[in-house]
Amino acid sequence: MKKIQRLEMVDISKSFHGIPANKNINLHVESGEVLGLLGENGAGKTTLMNILYGLYQPDSGDIRINGKNIRIHNPLESISHGIGMVHQHFMLVQNHSVIENIALGYKDTPFFFPKVSIRKKVEAFSKEFNFSIDFEKKIWQLSAGEQQRVEIIKALLNGADVLILDEPTSVLTPQEIAELFSILEAMKKNGHMIIFISHKLDEITQICDRVTVLKKGEIVGHADTSDTDKKALARMMVGRDVIFNINKEKIERGKKVLTVDRVNILGDKGNMAVKDISFSLYRNEIFGIAGVAGNGQRELAETITGIREAESGEILISDKDITNKSPRHIYDEGVSHVPEERIRFGIAPGLHLYDNAILKQHHLDKFSKRMFIRYPRVKDHAKALVKDFKVAAHTINTEIKNLSGGNIQKLILGRETSDQPALLVASHPTYGLDVGATEYLRKQLLDLRRQGSAILLFSEDLEEIFELCDRVAVIFDGEFTGILDADDPRLCDIGMLMAGTKRIDIQDTP
Ligand SMILES: Nc1ncnc2c1ncn2[C@@H]1O[C@H](COP(=O)(O)OP(=O)(O)OP(=O)(O)O)[C@@H](O)[C@H]1O
Ligand SMILES: [Mg+2]
Repeated sequence: MKKIQRLEMVDISKSFHGIPANKNINLHVESGEVLGLLGENGAGKTTLMNILYGLYQPDSGDIRINGKNIRIHNPLESISHGIGMVHQHFMLVQNHSVIENIALGYKDTPFFFPKVSIRKKVEAFSKEFNFSIDFEKKIWQLSAGEQQRVEIIKALLNGADVLILDEPTSVLTPQEIAELFSILEAMKKNGHMIIFISHKLDEITQICDRVTVLKKGEIVGHADTSDTDKKALARMMVGRDVIFNINKEKIERGKKVLTVDRVNILGDKGNMAVKDISFSLYRNEIFGIAGVAGNGQRELAETITGIREAESGEILISDKDITNKSPRHIYDEGVSHVPEERIRFGIAPGLHLYDNAILKQHHLDKFSKRMFIRYPRVKDHAKALVKDFKVAAHTINTEIKNLSGGNIQKLILGRETSDQPALLVASHPTYGLDVGATEYLRKQLLDLRRQGSAILLFSEDLEEIFELCDRVAVIFDGEFTGILDADDPRLCDIGMLMAGTKRIDIQDTP
């Protein structure tokens, strides 16, 4: 029998600097249930769960376990009540092994032979919930999915009956998502309860029993997933119908913008992550790179934008060689970048929103004169970005880390697309965006294409790839297994191309 049979949040309210993030929220979960939390970027989902996990104190309202009010002052107390949380950005020690990380977070770690006793416990869990994990590997050697599993194990080991998952799937491959869902199903059967935050409506309808929708800090609806659908959920969340298919007009492509010629790139683990890749990209074209994460996409994007060096090969923008030049140099050649790891490479978390609105652009004449930043201009620019991209921020003077995940993403997208780049390198640009923002961004990318930009789009979302791209390259183990026009019927084999079990001869060499 689980300690927690029913968990309630009653009339919870929370404001930051007088601005409400949660208003009179009521929700409950029962043993064996998965509750979905849905809502636009900035709706208050993470804040609400941070309250449940003891990271924030509510201004008013109660948390009840089995009908009894409890107070949660910090995560340790929340864990001791049986509530665990896996954050979107994992909190593991990169240089420690799996077993060391688990021992570090375990409240009952014994003094003698800690690894032996913990290993036994974890092995019991992995049998029960049907997953495998290599105890001796260091965290940095693990994929995102494996790291997430370590976080889940830590929560289970600490006796979590309630598991909160904040956008758990945005960094996972489709295979890893399937594995996560099978773990969650097993936990459900076992009487655990799960609160699952996601922007992906397919996932919500697949894994959740019920869903609660937030908008601007308030609950705007509840639904049983068995009698609702994607469209209805999107409407509840956004307040209007959302188009799930956008029409791309046919456009003649223009001059060549990017040439990648026989490029080889080393990965973090010393392996060759990108092997002899060649392609070119033209004005008015969106070129998609599809593939399962971890097949060289990140390394390729980083090398084109100057964050990582190529071992050999050449990269040209128009006719200029930019191989292994600095990010700033490459930026000045007209290359913008929406990176995969946004918090690490996309923003300076402790700076103001307005500073972040001009990262890499502060030296441009329009923003500085001699050595001085022209703050009035910078602030006007920041205000315009916030307005155009509907960034939910109450003031541009706030530190950017106070924005919700999706709103940070919107600001980066606005910054990187506002100057009509010659080339936009966009890695998973819609990760973490709500459906309305996703729709807006996709239209924005098509606008850039119409206006003459070349766009290199890395995505695992095949729907996104087919909706936007003119040509699609499929990458597997650092090599292209095909480059095809988006309307080529042979793309129906994209699954096999992504798995590397099929290859189509590549005609596109520069
Ligand atoms: N520490 C903080 N200081 C000031 N404002 C904050 C803080 N934390 C959250 N907020 C504000 O509270 C609101 C809700 O943010 P929250 O992160 O809960 O949204 P969310 O629903 O999780 O959005 P997303 O889907 O983008 O992750 C936002 O306007 C955010 O800027
Ligand atoms: Mg959030």
